[in-house]
Amino acid sequence: MITQLESLRHASLVVADTGDIEAVARWKPQDATTNPSLLLTSAQDPRFRHLVDAALREWSNSSARGDLSAAMDGLFVQFGREILKHVAGRVSTEVDARLSFDEEGSIAKARRFIALYEKQGVSRERILIKLSTTWEGIRAAEKLEKEGIHCNMTLLFSFAQAVACADAGVTLISPFVGRIYDWYKSARKVDDIPVEDDPGVASVTKIYGYYKKHGYKTQVMGASFRKTDQILALAGCDLLTIAPDLLDKLSKAPGPVERKLTLENARKTGGDKIHMDEKTFRWMHNEDAMATDKLAEGIRKFDADARKLENLITSLAAARAA
Ligand code: E4P
Repeated sequence: MITQLESLRHASLVVADTGDIEAVARWKPQDATTNPSLLLTSAQDPRFRHLVDAALREWSNSSARGDLSAAMDGLFVQFGREILKHVAGRVSTEVDARLSFDEEGSIAKARRFIALYEKQGVSRERILIKLSTTWEGIRAAEKLEKEGIHCNMTLLFSFAQAVACADAGVTLISPFVGRIYDWYKSARKVDDIPVEDDPGVASVTKIYGYYKKHGYKTQVMGASFRKTDQILALAGCDLLTIAPDLLDKLSKAPGPVERKLTLENARKTGGDKIHMDEKTFRWMHNEDAMATDKLAEGIRKFDADARKLENLITSLAAARAA
């Protein structure tokens, strides 16, 4: 019997969405994605305390000791390197959400991550730098891609964000499904939205269609899933990043899985090309109440979790010094 997970792997590249190294080792995905919230969870997990300790040791022996942001960078890279031991492809490492509206700051942070990885013998080809899909984040990504630093645009909720990313030539986008579903569930005051009407699934389908119809190289990676139905409805998407609990469910359910996103459909439904400039981007994105809410909230949440992680590091560093 083929499982849904095995079958899905024939249609899309399956990625693990987690900072749990043991889960990555178990599921053996091609790539893995992290974010500050996932890394906060893992850094608090006793199974991975040795990674936090190693990052703190390196930090306290370096000239950057005392600089908390350097400790955070080191910790993110420590987890990234460990994850890379279990995947053949790439790991995504996210830029501080406080830099979401700072093009130059984002570029500097991305270069720093790449320098830290390269110092440890990890080539930039194996890293995706995750940036918020703001206008400034997209401009930063456009410049980074020209330096051979590949980017994964996160917190992507609107069609305007997707069009601007493709025009900027970014390597990959992560359109969110679950957070769009959450917003519409709450707006409609319902407990569930069937997958046929799911606005998160519809968003990724539309983006995939547009990219393929117009021949963009940017890869589409569906992200942020709440249930396996949403994943199965996007079978055929270039990549799908999936949390361990949903990977587990897919691995226990009987397949096969039908391919839903195809080049043939995309050519028919991909829509006309849109000319995107800053004014159009800001207007189109602002017209989408869900996307403006979710982008702003997502930046606040990633920032809040990064601050919690900073507090954890500060108290652990103090305990080490005592
Ligand atoms: C992955 O890149 C995203 O950060 C992740 O899928 C977000 O998922 P969530 O909406 O469950 O937090």
